[in-house]
Amino acid sequence: MTAAPTGQTRPDTAATAPLPGSVDPGLSGARAAIFGVGPGIGLECVRVLGALGAHVACVDLDPDRADAAAAEFDRWPGEGFALAADVCDRDDAERVVADATDALGGLDVVINVVGHGGPAVPVADMPDDVWTDVLRINLDHHFYVTRAAMRSMIAQRRGSIVLISSVNALGSSPQRAVYGIAKAGLISLAKSLAIEAAEHGIRVNTVAPGATRTPRRQHLAEGDLAAVYRDSIPLGRLAEPQEVARAAMFLASDLASYITGETLVIDGGASVKYCLPAGN
Ligand SMILES: NC(=O)c1ccc[n+]([C@@H]2O[C@H](COP(=O)([O-])OP(=O)(O)OC[C@H]3O[C@@H](n4cnc5c(N)ncnc54)[C@H](O)[C@@H]3O)[C@@H](O)[C@H]2O)c1
Repeated sequence: MTAAPTGQTRPDTAATAPLPGSVDPGLSGARAAIFGVGPGIGLECVRVLGALGAHVACVDLDPDRADAAAAEFDRWPGEGFALAADVCDRDDAERVVADATDALGGLDVVINVVGHGGPAVPVADMPDDVWTDVLRINLDHHFYVTRAAMRSMIAQRRGSIVLISSVNALGSSPQRAVYGIAKAGLISLAKSLAIEAAEHGIRVNTVAPGATRTPRRQHLAEGDLAAVYRDSIPLGRLAEPQEVARAAMFLASDLASYITGETLVIDGGASVKYCLPAGN
């Protein structure tokens, strides 16, 4: 294991190293649907599951992103295929879950990555549409997609669902209060579902990433902001999207067979940092 070099934003080499071949998460042949497969955390989830032999329905609002993710499967033993859908539309969400389930012959794994922070604005100045839009893109569709997926999983008496939350759910979320509320709601949803679904052999968990170096957030690794983030995060760098995807894969897999209703925080120690002078 190599520590991140001080004064640089290069990732730890372990962040992007291949998974050790001796670990078998039991995902070969698994029937998975990943929602939000653009070139960030979602595409890395596709890559991690694809490399492990899963068959994956790659779902995105943008058909080109769905196609690009599915095209990666020429390298892997499993099959990948693209499905375009707007998961914020209830009917479209239910239609695409049904299409994925039919094409795969069942559904063992769901990873739902769709979401974003919305505009930075204090609550006192927040327009109504920011409140409703950010709840919609970060919370409502999880209800639509998960409810539809649960029906298939209950029938087959097995399944694993992973929802991508955020560290913004865990404490305050200044300038993005509604994003924090939506992501916290997602964690609560997963806990309730975990209890309701346990008797059907279904597990439900969340991943809470901190700042992650996806294309959308690349600016955090550059210029003046890079030093601010490096100094604020105990591990000294942003997360790589692969690191978040591996956490999602772990929770989705048999390696996590006794874990349900949990939130796995992937933030380089930022949320447990001691903010007062230590040792006094
Ligand atoms: N990048 C970070 O720093 C970070 C940190 C914490 C949490 N997260 C969370 O991780 C997730 C992924 O982040 P990312 O940076 O990889 O984002 P991203 O924008 O790269 O990926 C989101 C994908 O969802 C798709 N999408 C958007 N609306 C959709 C809809 N209505 N229906 C179907 N697909 C839709 C987009 O086309 C895109 O491909 C988000 O939920 C985000 O809140 C990200």
